[in-house]
Amino acid sequence: MKILGIETSCDETAAAVVEERTILSNVVLSQTAAHAPFGGVVPEIASRHHVENIPAIVEEALAQAKISLKQIDGIAATYTPGLLGALLIGLQYGKALAFALKKPFIGVNHLEGHLNAVFLENENVEYPYLGLIVSGGHTHLYRVPEFGRYELLGATRDDALGEAYDNVAKLLGLGYPGGPRLEKEALKGNTKAFHLTTPKLEEGSLDFSFSGVKTACLLIVKERQGNLSQNFVQDLAASFQEMATNFIVHRLKQAAKKTGISNLVVTGGVAANQTLRKKTKTLSDEEGYKLWIPSIPLCTDNGAMIAYVGGMKLKQNKISPFSLNAIAYSQLT
Ligand code: KG4
Ligand code: ZN
Repeated sequence: MKILGIETSCDETAAAVVEERTILSNVVLSQTAAHAPFGGVVPEIASRHHVENIPAIVEEALAQAKISLKQIDGIAATYTPGLLGALLIGLQYGKALAFALKKPFIGVNHLEGHLNAVFLENENVEYPYLGLIVSGGHTHLYRVPEFGRYELLGATRDDALGEAYDNVAKLLGLGYPGGPRLEKEALKGNTKAFHLTTPKLEEGSLDFSFSGVKTACLLIVKERQGNLSQNFVQDLAASFQEMATNFIVHRLKQAAKKTGISNLVVTGGVAANQTLRKKTKTLSDEEGYKLWIPSIPLCTDNGAMIAYVGGMKLKQNKISPFSLNAIAYSQLT
């Protein structure tokens, strides 16, 4: 079964063709340059770019997969969560294609895409697993007993991890996109230069919180009164990253203990971060967990993860009606 997957929930216009677990093509057009002058994603600009680019990106995905639209068995598109205007473009494009071609249409939850991206590269991921999504919009930890079932164990109470990376990067004058830039600086800094405390939530909670560390960084930067030397930037970046990644690792360990599950999947844009990848690997080696993290192109937003989930749902006959609408905020259940 060959599925065309379309993803436009934020600032990447993406399309892919996936056959079972094989990626035949995975085309991603990043809008980073268009948003950079504004220091973050501007929703209207994102929508306008999706409108302009989606036809060419879908064509490119088909061309790279060496397949015609007629040979596609189903069309999947992200319908939630994300920027409403951005979601609508990919969703409507996918529905229109499916309607014209008389093919099944499958609306996919972006978070379900992230949680399943790992299956595109691994046959041996074991259920139940603890699935942690760390992205620009989410820091959500799920217990996943089987495909299609997601039990939320914990989530951020304020900022998502990627959002915190982007905000601290902005404070440090690193611009946009903040996450990868902050990571680069952090690797050159002293992780112990600033003591940033881990938030204390109630005993047993598996939730996250990153607004406190963001404020702490803001106060440290303010004290400097504009004198942000390269060393200072690198040291604060390193200290922030140290606290944030240690917190994540600590939560994963707690969740594994609480649930008795030792299969871990870490995914989403921030899972592209090398320090986070290394620390979760060390944790898994020390504790005897099994860990799966997608390769970087499958951690960040892409159409392949949407196509994969679409294919799985099509097999279960879970086809979406053409009345399916975009939903900006939603929980995965
Ligand atoms: O999953 P994603 O591509 O889009 C969303 O669904 O949000 O994640 C984007 C987020 C951004 O906040 C970006 O700064 C962060 O992931 N990110 C990183 C890295 N690469 C992307 N954060 C830290 N280190 C990275 N290497
Ligand atoms: Zn995402």
